[in-house]
Amino acid sequence: MNTVHVSASGSYDIVIGQGLLPSIGERMKAFDKVKKIALVSDDNVYPLYGETVKAAMEAAGFEVSVFVFPHGEHSKCLKTYGELLEFMDEKHLSRSDMIAALGGGVTGDLAGFAAATYQRGIRFVQIPTSLLAMVDSSVGGKTAVDLAHSKNQVGAFWQPSLVLIDTDVLATLPDAEYRCGCSEIIKYGVLGNRTLFDECLKTPIKDQAEHIITVCVSMKRDTVEQDEFDRGERMKLNLGHTLGHVAEALSDFQTLHGQAVSMGMAAITRIAVKQGICSEETLNELLNILRVYELPTEMPYTADQMVDIMLTDKKVAGGTLRVILPEEIGVCRIDSVPAADLKNWLISGGIHE
Ligand SMILES: NC(=O)c1ccc[n+]([C@@H]2O[C@H](COP(=O)([O-])OP(=O)(O)OC[C@H]3O[C@@H](n4cnc5c(N)ncnc54)[C@H](O)[C@@H]3O)[C@@H](O)[C@H]2O)c1
Ligand SMILES: [Zn+2]
Repeated sequence: MNTVHVSASGSYDIVIGQGLLPSIGERMKAFDKVKKIALVSDDNVYPLYGETVKAAMEAAGFEVSVFVFPHGEHSKCLKTYGELLEFMDEKHLSRSDMIAALGGGVTGDLAGFAAATYQRGIRFVQIPTSLLAMVDSSVGGKTAVDLAHSKNQVGAFWQPSLVLIDTDVLATLPDAEYRCGCSEIIKYGVLGNRTLFDECLKTPIKDQAEHIITVCVSMKRDTVEQDEFDRGERMKLNLGHTLGHVAEALSDFQTLHGQAVSMGMAAITRIAVKQGICSEETLNELLNILRVYELPTEMPYTADQMVDIMLTDKKVAGGTLRVILPEEIGVCRIDSVPAADLKNWLISGGIHE
């Protein structure tokens, strides 16, 4: 078992290891004055792990109310958020009670935002069950729900009080979701950790999950401690995401996030090669590892389609797009592209007109 400590506006531990779910009740006893817990989960995850977590909380003396919602991004919306708040109110949760998010990033973002706003903010714990949530969304305190046409458009910075990562739950994660988590892990390697990149190539991530997750959350911790509110350094975590988000939107969110990030990393690195920022060899290393993890490396959209989406962002239209470009595996830089140059910039990286 590994523990990573985060000191941001809130300070908390991330514990990572096997067989940790049953320890959640005892661990939550460390928090002052908690009587009730709202346990939030989706309808895939709750049947698998919900009863174990609930029983552990009850054995530790907490009164647990369970809120289960339909799985999927479409539940990360104002409607489910409103239902969750009403549920907590009906159950008479007070300011000193807590929420527990058991699930992937959708559950964590939704329950986290409810925690940030219910009675002006109550404490919450993250129990991430997808690889993506373990290495990314459960750490760092960004919480949000989507609006009809915009992802993560309503949210808050609200740090959890504990993140409990039990790697055993990865056994039931669908393969495509596992690969999406791998895409984010490869991203950490490319943006700042050559050793991690090499380790992922040498041994499958699932065979060294505890170690790899510990390395990734430590990197995220370092970034969040430097730039909790995303004004500079934290931007680097967006490697592959600027173009990835465009691909997600163009697929009408049919392409999974991690797959889109993979396409985005490949595309931005091709552009970096054309600009002389990184070598062909670095690009080949990246394409190779993405293929090893069966992640997509081609952007199936034209430059015109992509620019149209990019210009819907008011910060970009008439201004500049901020992008993260790899220089070599483990080193990247932040750069700006004027909106007027976007199309040629994409074409230079091999994206069709
Ligand atoms: N807050 C942040 O900093 C941050 C960072 C990255 C992503 N996100 C958000 O995270 C979300 C994506 O997260 P996600 O990929 O975990 O999505 P998700 O929560 O929808 O989980 C993916 C799927 O896997 C299932 N699942 C999860 N764990 C399982 C398990 N152990 N066994 C079987 N099935 C399991 C879920 O039911 C779901 O169907 C997006 O909404 C994204 O915006 C937030
Ligand atoms: Zn991501």
